[in-house]
Amino acid sequence: MKSIKIIKPDDWHVHFREGDVLEHLVNETSKIYGRAIVMPNLNIPITNSKLAKNYKDTILKYSANVNFKPLITFYLTENININDLIKAYENDIIFAVKLYPSGVTTNSYQGVKKIDRIYSILEIMSDYKIPLLIHGEVNNKNIDVFDREKVFIKNELQNIINNFPKLKITLEHITTRFAVDFVNNAKSNVRASITPHHLLINRSDMLEHKIRPHYYCLPILKREEDRKALVQAAISGNENFFLGTDSAPHTLSTKEAECGCAGIFNTINSIETLAQLFDNCEKIENLEKFSSINGARHYEININNEKIELIKTTEKLNFKEYLLVNSEKYKIFTPPFNVFWHKKSKQ
Ligand code: DOR
Ligand code: ZN
Repeated sequence: MKSIKIIKPDDWHVHFREGDVLEHLVNETSKIYGRAIVMPNLNIPITNSKLAKNYKDTILKYSANVNFKPLITFYLTENININDLIKAYENDIIFAVKLYPSGVTTNSYQGVKKIDRIYSILEIMSDYKIPLLIHGEVNNKNIDVFDREKVFIKNELQNIINNFPKLKITLEHITTRFAVDFVNNAKSNVRASITPHHLLINRSDMLEHKIRPHYYCLPILKREEDRKALVQAAISGNENFFLGTDSAPHTLSTKEAECGCAGIFNTINSIETLAQLFDNCEKIENLEKFSSINGARHYEININNEKIELIKTTEKLNFKEYLLVNSEKYKIFTPPFNVFWHKKSKQ
């Protein structure tokens, strides 16, 4: 039996949604993670401090752990009120700003159509040291869906970095070797989050023989060589990369549909699954850096005080198939291997 104690992990990218499911999602995340950066792409996106404060208060009510800290993000549009944004940041209502290029994913239509229209906002964010979190894909019919991350990095991100060299930037949920190399060659204020699913499955897993709608997410899964580059970045403990689950549940009927939604619900058993991946790669000693240290360093905040213990046994971890909320089912992501790591129940 192996066991490790690691600093309590954080999830630097999660979707808590709204309505009845919110309580369940906050509960699941707060059982595992010390903090979570919460995405603002609700049906009515979080585009002002009032919406942000209400959302934060509601999340806090539902937390399973009094010490859990939800870190709320502000949804960037071309016409946000910049004074309201600064006030929300200074009053600790929001933690960061999320940039969705318009139309790239779920509830992103109010996002940014032309990136240079937000340059005056980015300048102020840089002055106030407000982190910019980026969904790094272009929304352009002429660009193949598998190339949209690379084209965004080349055509948009490079310009943002050139114009705002001091702005703290997280390139969210990277999916390609190209992105890994780009971040490794960028200045230290540009870093990236990586999801469990992009570490575990590739586009063939999603598309070969039969289509698997529950593997459909955005940015879309890429080639095996890309997955391998992501795994290498994560398991090496490289400080440029950290965990953001991008856990993004949609109901069964909106996933298994003619026009299905993008998103994978992976929170439940995520830390045990990552432990198994790192262990399979003989790098369990670097799990803590990826899940509990590198993100906090990037955001220049303290690492968590608490620790958790993970134990490897001969017993397979049991994955529930669905989360059930008011007769709506949400499919729980299961990894392509057995997991023998467990959280020690009493910490
Ligand atoms: O797969 C995804 N689902 N990617 C995103 O960028 C958004 C998310 C969602 O909110 O459904
Ligand atoms: Zn996301």
